[in-house]
Amino acid sequence: MAGAMELLSFLIIASFHVILMALAQDGNQFVHYDFRKADLYIDGVATIEDGRLKLTNSSKRATGHAFHKTPVNFRNTSFSFTTEFVFAIIPDESTSYGQGMAFVIAPSVDLRYGAATSYLGIFNRTNDNKTENHIFAVELDTNASSEALEESDNHVGIDINSIISVYSVDASYFDDTKGLRKSLVLASKQRIRIWIEYDGEQRLLNVTLAPLETPKPSLPLLSRSIDLSKIFKEQMFFGFSGSTGTIKSHQYILGWALSIGGKAQSLDISKVLDLPRPPPNHMPVILASAATIAFLIIAGGIAFFYHQKRFAEVFEQWEQKYSPQRFSFRTLYKATKGFKENRVLGAGGFGKVYKGDLPDGTQIAVKRVSHGAKQGMQEYVSEIATMSRLGHMNLVQLRGYCRRKGELLLVYEYMPNGSLSDYLFHGNNLSWSQRVHIITGVASALRYLHDDTEKVVLHRDIKASNILLDSNLNGKLGDFGLARVHDHGEILQPTRVVGTIGYMAPEVTTLGVTNKLTDVYAFGALILEVVCGRRPIDLERSLEQRILIEWVASCGRRGGLIDTVDSKLAGNFRTEEAKLLLKLGMLCSQKDPENRPTMKDITEYLQKNIMPNITFDITEIGIPIVPLICNEMTPSHGTTSSVASFWYDTITVLFRGR
Ligand SMILES: *[C@@H]1O[C@H](CO)[C@@H](O)[C@H](O)[C@H]1NC(C)=O
Ligand SMILES: *[C@@H]1O[C@H](CO)[C@@H](O)[C@H](O)[C@H]1NC(C)=O
Ligand SMILES: *[C@@H]1O[C@H](CO)[C@@H](O)[C@H](O)[C@H]1NC(C)=O
Ligand SMILES: *[C@@H]1O[C@H](CO)[C@@H](O)[C@H](O)[C@H]1NC(C)=O
Ligand SMILES: *[C@@H]1O[C@H](CO)[C@@H](O)[C@H](O)[C@H]1NC(C)=O
Ligand SMILES: *[C@@H]1O[C@H](CO)[C@@H](O)[C@H](O)[C@H]1NC(C)=O
Repeated sequence: MAGAMELLSFLIIASFHVILMALAQDGNQFVHYDFRKADLYIDGVATIEDGRLKLTNSSKRATGHAFHKTPVNFRNTSFSFTTEFVFAIIPDESTSYGQGMAFVIAPSVDLRYGAATSYLGIFNRTNDNKTENHIFAVELDTNASSEALEESDNHVGIDINSIISVYSVDASYFDDTKGLRKSLVLASKQRIRIWIEYDGEQRLLNVTLAPLETPKPSLPLLSRSIDLSKIFKEQMFFGFSGSTGTIKSHQYILGWALSIGGKAQSLDISKVLDLPRPPPNHMPVILASAATIAFLIIAGGIAFFYHQKRFAEVFEQWEQKYSPQRFSFRTLYKATKGFKENRVLGAGGFGKVYKGDLPDGTQIAVKRVSHGAKQGMQEYVSEIATMSRLGHMNLVQLRGYCRRKGELLLVYEYMPNGSLSDYLFHGNNLSWSQRVHIITGVASALRYLHDDTEKVVLHRDIKASNILLDSNLNGKLGDFGLARVHDHGEILQPTRVVGTIGYMAPEVTTLGVTNKLTDVYAFGALILEVVCGRRPIDLERSLEQRILIEWVASCGRRGGLIDTVDSKLAGNFRTEEAKLLLKLGMLCSQKDPENRPTMKDITEYLQKNIMPNITFDITEIGIPIVPLICNEMTPSHGTTSSVASFWYDTITVLFRGR
């Protein structure tokens, strides 16, 4: 009896093994790191190169396919499957991505009829959208050309019998450590892992993406209800298809796990092959360094066409080096409700700023450079490069950007209270302690820019309209469009003069000199503006009061310094603090830059309540000079002045130095 039991259990175990082996041989479960060992059907330009599966190369309008030769038998199953693979897309050109690739489940391995370019080698003009195709694909599309208008050039789509996706979303992944979604560039030359899971009982398809080193995110990129039993035949082949157009990309698969019915074995990322180096047939890769970027920012005056060429390279390099979030145009389009006019927060010479709402509820401000604003492009490169490296609570945070057909969009945290300028002159009255809080906040941000970062960052356009206020009325410095970056200790050559009248130190307009002390001068003008509640230059006032510094100095000389404090405060301020700030503002406004305090000094005056020692001698004061040539920028509309204006509400001067 015991023997019979043993025999029985042996038979059960043995048959279990046979079933398992049959499953494995059916191609129902496998893991590949080296595709030389995989049993693949390959056609078109696809090859296996040193163990890597390469779908496309630099051949134009070509397709490549690779399918597991053994079909999967779905008979009497719920069609559940899970798969995980690692891919990398290396575009031939730095500015275009080329076409894309797809994970395909088809009733045949032979997809040679599939057209190149936007059909991704899966469908053609005659069979597209035919139910006889029985094809399911997850496309990793890097070109928007053929699809619906709103499609971005970086999306993941679910294709059923047609290249026109039934669902499609911009590529991104959920960062569990930060609790937010980050966009992901498919053609980033980086290895990306993707999980495709289909639960046939629930009829639920999940697709999840993440950079190779990132563990599987807890939230999928998309989770959709789909009934694959209506599409699949009993026997289906699993594989990949890729295509090129006039723009080419090299598409690699570097690891693949599949399981039918159960959960796929997770890929061991240490076993996933690296990308070949140097990339084949690839344009020269220019070494990235902060110095190159800084150099290019400084080369602001160089002719535009020359600059634009470099621009692409800088951008690419920078994208990898600093990698702030890249938003898709579609996300921003939706967030701003199609860049509706009623979402405009402010407008300036280079474009408009819109309010946006991301799907997760985050509010953003999107600065969009207007078409053909050539001047603007240079400023923006400077702005992104500068801001992406900075982190200080009193600096407006750059959340990301989007690049599209020569258009650039910058995404910032949204500042619900608009600009200091609007708040001061049109909004609610700022209390004394709020004013002091804003000044100390901006001072600490400037100290950070001047002394605490790897390179010296000169803002060069400090003014009330570039200070934005968050919901707690914290002042944050924004608009780095005119910023300049240099090494500590480096002496800058004069190039061109930028800034805003009233905040520009006299040596800037006469000598074209810019350094930390020119920022200090502007900060001084800002202190006076906030304390006195009036602009540095106000032509509507009496001659004596037109230039704020002159007026404060004359009041100071006759012992009436406190008379200059904003009358809107109705006496509700601390006298000693007001004196300190007014004197500090005057100290920053000295004609001789050497006599001005550094930002470090300024923060100490503020923290330790040290009263600056100052005479109000008019000959020592740097009276703002109105330059010879100036470009007037239209101020943002009077009607919208209560909302944020990141832009020129005074006059910005932009002209070449001598
Ligand atoms: C791409 O690969 C195919 C097939 O291996 C080959 O015939 C073709 O010459 C390659 N194209 C280029 C540009 O290397
Ligand atoms: C599949 O199911 C059908 C009926 O639902 C049954 O007749 C057949 O034996 C099953 N086949 C296998 C291999 O289980
Ligand atoms: C899409 O393809 C077209 C035609 O090949 C090309 O001009 C364009 O640059 C491509 N776009 C991207 C983002 O690669
Ligand atoms: C399109 O694909 C079908 C197979 O689905 C094939 O019969 C047909 O010849 C192809 N058409 C072209 C123009 O290649
Ligand atoms: C695909 O075909 C279905 C009918 O079979 C039709 O309703 C649908 O509009 C077609 N889609 C496209 C994009 O042509
Ligand atoms: C798919 O995602 C949903 C939502 O995150 C989750 O509830 C479900 O368990 C996932 N299903 C599979 C098969 O991973």
